[in-house]
Amino acid sequence: MFENLPAQIKVVEVGPRDGLQNEEKNIPTADKVRLIEALAATGLKNIEVSSFVSPKWIPQLADALDVAGALNLPDVNKSALVPNLKGYERFKEAGLNQVALFMSASESHSKKNINKSVDEAFVALAEVCDLAKRDGYPVRCYVSVVFECPYEGTVSPEQVTRITERLLSMGIDEISLGDTIGAATPNQVIDMISRVARHCDLDKLALHFHDTRGTALVNVLAGLESGISIYDSSLGGMGGCPYAPGAAGNLATEDLVYLLHGIGCDTGIDLDRLVDAGLLAQELLGKKLPGRYLGAALGKRQKGCPAVESCADNSGSVVR
Ligand code: HMG
Ligand code: MG
Repeated sequence: MFENLPAQIKVVEVGPRDGLQNEEKNIPTADKVRLIEALAATGLKNIEVSSFVSPKWIPQLADALDVAGALNLPDVNKSALVPNLKGYERFKEAGLNQVALFMSASESHSKKNINKSVDEAFVALAEVCDLAKRDGYPVRCYVSVVFECPYEGTVSPEQVTRITERLLSMGIDEISLGDTIGAATPNQVIDMISRVARHCDLDKLALHFHDTRGTALVNVLAGLESGISIYDSSLGGMGGCPYAPGAAGNLATEDLVYLLHGIGCDTGIDLDRLVDAGLLAQELLGKKLPGRYLGAALGKRQKGCPAVESCADNSGSVVR
């Protein structure tokens, strides 16, 4: 039995942002809004709804203001990515609740992703952070490629701890450590958390796993055992960073919630409703999503299907 795990877990749904930013198909604004509403209906209380980055860089989310303007979900903490002051101006118009900054732990990924060195990124972050704090918004910040960079290879934990210390000194409320290309294994996760936790309260740390090599869930377990209670995930496992080659989708929210409930951690999320939302996402994107629980549950919903294990492929269609 796993013991002494955090009893209550905060799940941050990043599908409408991290998921849709990497989809080729352009999803109409009204459908994005439907998807976010379906996510809110599951009990998710933290949803990253879009991104105020440059539409030239991420055209899929060029309608961020319209999406945000169409949402009426007062019980949901709605965040969006903000890369610079121009993005912050648009964020403020949007009526959302939380600013999500982002930066990279490696120079090469930073250059590719935001066209800035790590030091230049800090300048832009600080400008937005100061204004956001003045305006009363909570600020989360992602640190990408904390374990492995697609351009430079292994990233040193010392570099990550230096960055997190600097972010905390700026007043960032929550830091999400990103395994952007899904390369970490549990010992690395435990080691990283123990180092960062020397200067950062555990309740300010979130983990953000992509599932490229199938290690996301076991890394969550390592995070739980290390005392982390905030996890990012994406409906159906959609997603990825377009500027991190080889990165597959995020950890699927349904897989995360299934694991958490199974080991006695509460999320406040209804798994059946997540499957409804996952089905909607598949319909909107016109393809099956990689989430494992989603595939199994959709298979089970097929009429006359005797057992999940024997009948479901990943699309929810019956395999004979
Ligand atoms: P740049 O081209 O260096 O920007 O992009 P610039 O300041 O030189 O400006 C160029 C033009 O873009 C100007 O317009 C600006 O006004 C405009 P022009 O004068 O040519 O007409 N511009 C903007 N327009 C709208 N909104 C803005 C904005 N900023 C500039 N905010 C920039 C720099 C940072 C904007 C760009 O590189 C960018 O948008 N990058 C974002 C890339 C991105 O979204 N990547 C994915 C998200 S990160 C991720 O997925 C990882 C994460 O999930 C965690 C993990 O997995 O590890 C978070
Ligand atoms: Mg990501």
